[in-house]
Amino acid sequence: MIKTTLPEPFPGVYWVDHPFVQHKLTTLRDKHTPTREFRMLVEELGVLIAYEATRDFETELVDVETPLEKAKSPTLKGKKMCVVTIMRAGNGMTEGVLKLSPSARVGHVGLYRDPQTKLPIEYYIKMPPDLDQRTVICADPMLATGQSAAAAVHKVKELGGRDIRFVCLFAAPEGLQLFREEHPDVPVFVGVIDSHLDDHAYIRPGVGDAGDRIYGTK
Ligand code: URA
Repeated sequence: MIKTTLPEPFPGVYWVDHPFVQHKLTTLRDKHTPTREFRMLVEELGVLIAYEATRDFETELVDVETPLEKAKSPTLKGKKMCVVTIMRAGNGMTEGVLKLSPSARVGHVGLYRDPQTKLPIEYYIKMPPDLDQRTVICADPMLATGQSAAAAVHKVKELGGRDIRFVCLFAAPEGLQLFREEHPDVPVFVGVIDSHLDDHAYIRPGVGDAGDRIYGTK
């Protein structure tokens, strides 16, 4: 069953229930959706979810001269951003987040899942030096066990990140629970919460392997 309302035990989880988001997520689920369209949709959804995740950014009024008159109009108030992509599926969403904020810095976290323990092992980390001065948007389309997401956010915090948000497209309740326990201070913006994780830690019904579907590697 795909949840259509947020379950109670997940404070700090924001469900982006916009009809266009839900429509695009359904197209991603379809096993017949070709690689090119899948990749494009993940990017578009990156824009739409990040749009909600940055809704509280402050603005300030500046003077502007239109062709008709002088006016005061809002601009972003010096908020600096860093998108942290959880490789490799996160890269697809990150392209979308960057559409919203093209000058954002990009950090990379490389983790792979140990096939036996299912625990994340770190193989690559690269972050901008001033993480403490940036709003950090961590991106991974699939919040499955929550282990990689939680490990990535631990790393961001260790390297100075303070104002952190997590954006994903599909989440399993198990992963959300673990993530909320480890990072109650980090809000999660999600497209849909699916039914459960299967024995191979895939989100059901999900989309299968998001990385493979973005890059056409299967
Ligand atoms: N990663 C994926 O790509 N898909 C899942 O269902 C879970 C983790």
